[in-house]
Amino acid sequence: MILEPGQVAVVTGAASGIGRALAHAFARRGLTVVAVDVEEGPLNAIVAELHGLGVPAQGQRVDVRDPEAVTALAEAVVTAYGRVDVVCNNAGVVTPRVLSWEVSAADARWTLEVNLLGVLNGIRAFVPYLVAAGRGHVVNTASVAGLTPVPGGSTIAYTASKYAVVGASETLALELAHLAPEVGVTVLCPGPVPSRILEAGRNRPAEAGASSVGVGALPAVALGMTQVPAEQVAELVCAAIEARRALVVTAADVAELARARVRRLLAELDG
Ligand SMILES: NC(=O)c1ccc[n+]([C@@H]2O[C@H](COP(=O)([O-])OP(=O)(O)OC[C@H]3O[C@@H](n4cnc5c(N)ncnc54)[C@H](O)[C@@H]3O)[C@@H](O)[C@H]2O)c1
Repeated sequence: MILEPGQVAVVTGAASGIGRALAHAFARRGLTVVAVDVEEGPLNAIVAELHGLGVPAQGQRVDVRDPEAVTALAEAVVTAYGRVDVVCNNAGVVTPRVLSWEVSAADARWTLEVNLLGVLNGIRAFVPYLVAAGRGHVVNTASVAGLTPVPGGSTIAYTASKYAVVGASETLALELAHLAPEVGVTVLCPGPVPSRILEAGRNRPAEAGASSVGVGALPAVALGMTQVPAEQVAELVCAAIEARRALVVTAADVAELARARVRRLLAELDG
């Protein structure tokens, strides 16, 4: 699909980082943007920025962990605009980087609830409208950690959540290829992107339980991977939507890490 005025894009995690850049990229193309986040102040700020670009935009304070709230959001979007075209399931969190057997149950649950169930909630709520319209595009944000474990990098829960987002996206794409071939699916697997992800604890809800330690340096950066600005990532995503690409990686070293894992896998399968 070509991104153009008149279309409606929904972006979760839109108040910061990659989500904010996606919202701006869609707005620059004239799309109406529904920015979704749990952080009210930054959400209001981004809606003001989008209005400044002269496009219709609204902010919705919705926790992607809540399936009923995400379903109500989808209904509200379609009621307000009569359509939805692009859905970016992008909200995500990280927790303290500790060894696999040291990740607390609370951290594991919160990570999976936001990063994985948040994506599934978005798919359940929005995809029926895309299928009914016979057009549209879903973008799910995974990570380089969804393609290969990053040594000394993300936690077991984060890696598991992001592998699951890749698997979920591939499953959805397979089904849509049969049932609604004009609806595309892209999974975004960024390497390091400067954002507020290391301060993810700012959104940790009380019910997620206490987390003991702070998050360390962004692991992939520690490994010397290429950092790509969120604005550039958003442009890659827009190009991928228009070209119907299934996968976006942000730099050559992400692709190389993924290739290395596939080679290891093939060696096991063929050996
Ligand atoms: N920054 C990176 O290096 C990097 C690398 C790979 C993947 N990612 C992924 O990119 C996505 C965006 O992260 P970012 O780097 O822009 O981080 P960020 O912290 O700057 O932005 C994430 C946004 O998600 C929102 N959010 C958190 N929990 C939420 C919830 N339950 N419901 C709704 N919104 C919620 C936050 O308030 C925040 O505005 C995440 O899925 C992250 O895992 C980031």
